[in-house]
Amino acid sequence: MLLEAPLQRVVGRFVPAALPPSGTFDGQTVLIVGATTGIGLAAAVHFATLGASVIITSRVASRGDAAKRHIEGAAGPSRKGDISCLELDLERYDSCTSFMAKLKNSLPGPAALDVAILNGGIVNSRWEESAAGWERTIQINTIGTTLVGLLLLGWMRGARAQRTSPAHINFLSSREHLYPDIDQLERWSQEKDGILRQVCSKNNWPGGFWDAEPNYAISKLLVMYTIEGISNFALGSDRDPLVIVNSVCPGMVKTDIGRHISSRSWFHHLCVFLTILFTAKSADSGARICVAAALKPKETHGEFFNYWLTADQYRRYVITRKRADRVNSSEDWPNEY
Ligand SMILES: NC(=O)c1ccc[n+]([C@@H]2O[C@H](COP(=O)([O-])OP(=O)(O)OC[C@H]3O[C@@H](n4cnc5c(N)ncnc54)[C@H](OP(=O)(O)O)[C@@H]3O)[C@@H](O)[C@H]2O)c1
Repeated sequence: MLLEAPLQRVVGRFVPAALPPSGTFDGQTVLIVGATTGIGLAAAVHFATLGASVIITSRVASRGDAAKRHIEGAAGPSRKGDISCLELDLERYDSCTSFMAKLKNSLPGPAALDVAILNGGIVNSRWEESAAGWERTIQINTIGTTLVGLLLLGWMRGARAQRTSPAHINFLSSREHLYPDIDQLERWSQEKDGILRQVCSKNNWPGGFWDAEPNYAISKLLVMYTIEGISNFALGSDRDPLVIVNSVCPGMVKTDIGRHISSRSWFHHLCVFLTILFTAKSADSGARICVAAALKPKETHGEFFNYWLTADQYRRYVITRKRADRVNSSEDWPNEY
């Protein structure tokens, strides 16, 4: 076990996972939230190349148009599906609801949406308040993502009877959700305003030199909790999933998501540069986990996919942390987790 984790990281870094055969997504429609760049854009290229029609979202029309042209060019002339773009800003509630209305108008019905990937997310190293009064990382990565996930599921779950197999909703999470101080969250839950207010409070923003990405890990932990609720909501009366809900961590991927960290100081810039240079895989490689997740069977409903832990190892680790009792498992779980 001690050697297994680093080994899997190295393998995942240098050996891209295999893609399914050409035509796997023929006739299917895949929605990717936040696909103007990075993992979302690379996933869109994979799905388009594999036969799907792809709907991407962007906050700014010109960035969406550029992404659409990129996907069309990369998928080549043999591409079978259409590429379209809808506007969505996960930071604004009205944008989330109007996006849903536009999505419904653009498809014949909920049964026509086969895969939805909620990929949009940020790392922010400055405390900023959203229009709704929450810290921005939490607003986008947790609240906006949860809202769109719920809106999509509420629409898609009713279409199960019209489909031969359940559709998929996949959330881009991060292994960093395993790192927050759970005891601190528990203490905040006792405060009168509750966890979310405390997490978003400027007073609790860790401004230290080493806190390069405050609230990112917590935003991903909180969204893991909401994904658990969303997974339950996706179950039918017979406990079979009406929509298969999963979360994924692509590992360290070479994208521009760390730009806010880089801009803090030359030291942070160097750290980001070296980390990416030595540990990050390409966006093409990282995005393959989204394709794999979209093909998982219903038995995997609710699972978190990543390159280091099997579903069983992850479950054991989470249970161990919940009990705050790592004594018996300390041999099994190296610190780097
Ligand atoms: N890169 C990694 O190593 C890594 C590791 C684990 C997990 N992840 C997760 O993977 C996802 C994608 O990350 P990435 O590395 O590809 O980042 P990225 O290159 O910065 O791309 C982020 C995407 O999210 C969109 N986005 C940002 N704010 C948004 C908002 N308010 N509303 C809607 N869309 C918004 C961006 O669109 P705009 O053009 O509108 O900005 C962009 O398309 C994130 O959820 C991230 O947490 C990344």
